[in-house]
Amino acid sequence: MDIHITNQSWIEVDADVLLIPLFEDEDSTSSFFSDLNGSLEGLLQELVETGEWTGKEGEIKVFFKPPHFKARRLVLLGCGARAQYSEARARRTVLHAVKRISSFQLRHFSILSRRKNNLGTMAQALVEGIVLATYDVAEYKTEERSRALIDRITVITEGEFDENRVRMFMERGCVLGEAANRARLWVNEPGNLFGPVTLAERAREIAEKYGLQIEVLGEPEMVELGMNAILAVARGSDEPARFIVLKHLGDPSPDAPPAVLIGKGVTFDSGGLSLKPSQSMEDMKADKAGACAVLAAMQAIASLQLRCNVVALLPAVENLPSGRAQRPGDVIRSMCGKTIEVLNTDAEGRLILADSLCYARQQLNPRYIIDVATLTGACIVALGHLRAGLFSNDDALCSRLLEASSRSGELLWRLPLDDEYQKEIESDIADIKNVGSRWGGAITAAKFLQAFVGDTPWCHLDIAGVDIYPEKHEMKGPTGFGVRTLVELILSELPDQPAL
Ligand code: BES
Ligand code: MN
Ligand code: ZN
Repeated sequence: MDIHITNQSWIEVDADVLLIPLFEDEDSTSSFFSDLNGSLEGLLQELVETGEWTGKEGEIKVFFKPPHFKARRLVLLGCGARAQYSEARARRTVLHAVKRISSFQLRHFSILSRRKNNLGTMAQALVEGIVLATYDVAEYKTEERSRALIDRITVITEGEFDENRVRMFMERGCVLGEAANRARLWVNEPGNLFGPVTLAERAREIAEKYGLQIEVLGEPEMVELGMNAILAVARGSDEPARFIVLKHLGDPSPDAPPAVLIGKGVTFDSGGLSLKPSQSMEDMKADKAGACAVLAAMQAIASLQLRCNVVALLPAVENLPSGRAQRPGDVIRSMCGKTIEVLNTDAEGRLILADSLCYARQQLNPRYIIDVATLTGACIVALGHLRAGLFSNDDALCSRLLEASSRSGELLWRLPLDDEYQKEIESDIADIKNVGSRWGGAITAAKFLQAFVGDTPWCHLDIAGVDIYPEKHEMKGPTGFGVRTLVELILSELPDQPAL
């Protein structure tokens, strides 16, 4: 992607599309408004007077070959109230508008930044919005369709700016948008074409292309390490499990304790012998969304050549019923030695995460651990499709992650981990059981994980409600949720980051 920043006048910018954000409380006496109105030969004023243009968020108006503009199309972007204009809103409105016009085969997008301070983060958000809008859902449609072909983005501003700084932010927006789109494509891959072995192959390709170290453990190695919780989930499927370890060692001292990111990689979740009803199974190819998000985040981290150490762990399994499947009531000995009574084989995510957490602590000396998982339906009941559940045993890490989420626009909501909830998962015959009662299910799942975390600083993201958005959303389908937040967190910890 070709990236540019310019303080040329917007009327002079040569592009396939020029996007101009407008507010609903735009000052019609400002020179900006009268300039724009003048260039449109008074049309803007007229549209405002007739109520055909209000500037409400989501409104768009397309002008084809506007006479005085070099750009071949002008798109007015309604952005709502000026005081509420933020990176998140800018990203959202751009995503929405570019999606609406993306069938026009447009290559060069230019967009006016309506903000002069914090130009960097705003430019990043605008680029992210454009790149996210180019995501193509219908991978498996055989009919020929036009695809978005954006290859050049120009951000227009007024006055002076630090070109290198703004370019760096735009580069970031591009890398993050592309990584998120990659995660979205993977999440869409159906279970028959994308099992644990395929996930490991994709991880190898990414490692090779972006220069990450990779190790893929097969079942014999997992037996050797005692990863019986992962193996127990994988038993019911003919597809063997994989445990994927990716390392980005960018810290000047390669032994510096890494941040460890863990992603739940259940390539299909039927529930196992505790079989799900058919409707609940429909979206369960997406039960690998956590692993896809972490893998894509590693792609971005490597591509940005960040000077830090990050290790990703992707436990990959398929959860199916069969004559070999684990049974409700089985007791397994997890990697760290804790015994687990498996009362519901559909609570499989926490089992594969338990061994992954143990692997992280035994083998990696982690600075902290963040896991990302489509873990519980209960989290969707609690938070709907807007925010992911956040759990943490470390307030400092937790607030850094919330900071990162406020930059990415991927919303989180912290939920509690009181000790009292632990009683729900005490087992009569083993150290712990894998389900509690019906209530507070997202919390008891997190408490189960916490039992394997020890005193390592840790955050758990339950992304069950936000991995896929239902209809009527500018990001219908897989969202890539988590990719941008994870990378923003890592970015925020680097010493030589420019002040925002
Ligand atoms: N993958 C599911 C959680 C899920 C549900 C994700 C809906 C996305 C949409 C998870 O493995 C699961 O089945 N959880 C059970 C846990 C229960 C058995 C304690 C659930 O939420 O019903
Ligand atoms: Mn399940
Ligand atoms: Zn699951």
